[in-house]
Amino acid sequence: MKQKKLVLTWEEVQELADLVPVEAALLNLATASLKHAYAPYSNFHVGAAILLESGEMLGGSNQENAAYPMCLCAERVALSAAASQHPNIVIKTMAITVKAPNQVIGQPAMPCGSCRQALCEKEYQQKQAIRLVVRGEKGSIYCFKSAKDILPFSFDASFL
Ligand code: THU
Repeated sequence: MKQKKLVLTWEEVQELADLVPVEAALLNLATASLKHAYAPYSNFHVGAAILLESGEMLGGSNQENAAYPMCLCAERVALSAAASQHPNIVIKTMAITVKAPNQVIGQPAMPCGSCRQALCEKEYQQKQAIRLVVRGEKGSIYCFKSAKDILPFSFDASFL
């Protein structure tokens, strides 16, 4: 039997001012997007913001529904907004942040599995990695060079 190992490298910065200005601005847009979350059921607000290759930024937030499985995650709301409003423009970076009802989240709140899959699909489509900048409500910020880094062994169209 052969033992194999997976090594993940990512960057950690302590505060917003330690990011390059465009990424600090993107994280600020994700934070501003929190207030547009519609989350009356979980009260868990998620803000996402996308930086396009054109330099344009757009935000998204989670949108819940009384029929719970219909809830939309902020990351996929932002991805859909980019795909429908700016088709064919490469997504360079996504910033994500959260605000929870009962606790101050002091560590990066990572995208759920479905959002990781959606981000990987976009990477596959645009043939370019999407950088991720992720923060909780406060605390350190994690930066990943690709969505694939947080979805190892991912399924994509190359299998079809
Ligand atoms: N949520 C997101 O918006 N993104 C994620 O990656 C995880 C979860 C939302 C869905 C739901 O509205 C709330 O957070 C609680 O799960």
